Amino acid sequence: MSKNILLIGGSHGIGNAIVQHMYQNNNIYVASRENENLPDGVTHINFDALTDELDTTALPESLDGFVYCPGSINLKPFKMLKQKHFEDDMNINFFSMLKVTRTVLPLLTKEGTSSMVYFSTVAVGTGMPFHTSVAAAKGAIEGFAKALAAEYAPTVRVNVIAPSLVDTPLAGRLLNNDAKKEKMGEMHPLKRVGTPDDIASVAAFLLEQNTGWITGQVIGVDGGKGTLNLG
Ligand SMILES: NC(=O)c1ccc[n+]([C@@H]2O[C@H](COP(=O)([O-])OP(=O)(O)OC[C@H]3O[C@@H](n4cnc5c(N)ncnc54)[C@H](OP(=O)(O)O)[C@@H]3O)[C@@H](O)[C@H]2O)c1
Repeated sequence: MSKNILLIGGSHGIGNAIVQHMYQNNNIYVASRENENLPDGVTHINFDALTDELDTTALPESLDGFVYCPGSINLKPFKMLKQKHFEDDMNINFFSMLKVTRTVLPLLTKEGTSSMVYFSTVAVGTGMPFHTSVAAAKGAIEGFAKALAAEYAPTVRVNVIAPSLVDTPLAGRLLNNDAKKEKMGEMHPLKRVGTPDDIASVAAFLLEQNTGWITGQVIGVDGGKGTLNLG
């Protein structure tokens, strides 16, 4: 049965890969600043998560799935990170997510079973240098998502995907040539960086299950980086 799925961000990167996975069998709504790369049949809503209230008039009465994609990768030594860097990372990753979550939750609780997917990073579960700001913002998402999952069970399932490095526009500066990709890939037990599809297939699984029994989880999709030490 086709589901009503809203993505905040679906024009690029992992969100767009989720759209490509799901649009043929579902009603997809994408709220983002740009209206690019969206297949026919996907409804686009102009939306800047940092500044706008989401206009829900283009949405159906109820939603089966919700994904929040906007995020950041600001990697710097702690002593070079100003208070503003931390605030910016918290704003796009956490506070903007919180605001839009408040708006959509009433639509997600109408059907009796719905699914929310948020994104963290491998750097929350495993300490990594230069990640203090993004790890703090994504750590807030993990704690929030688990508490929300507890509060809204059994109606709404809430899960988090924690990727390692994925080849998207967001990671462009880290992966903008083959040598960098290979070097970064070598740092992972599975010897490559992630593709948007690696992450999207797990997100689609969490969104599509009819009788899902998974909630409150942080799922590492990370080439083994978060859990394996090959010595
Ligand atoms: N790529 C990685 O290596 C990696 C690693 C770990 C975690 N993650 C996390 O995974 C998630 C997805 O990352 P990605 O690499 O796919 O990012 P991306 O390539 O930057 O794509 C982000 C999407 O979110 C939308 N977006 C960004 N800012 C927005 C805003 N202010 N308002 C509305 N929409 C906005 C963008 O659309 P518009 O530009 O059209 O608005 C785009 O569709 C993020 O939370 C990221 O932190 C990524």
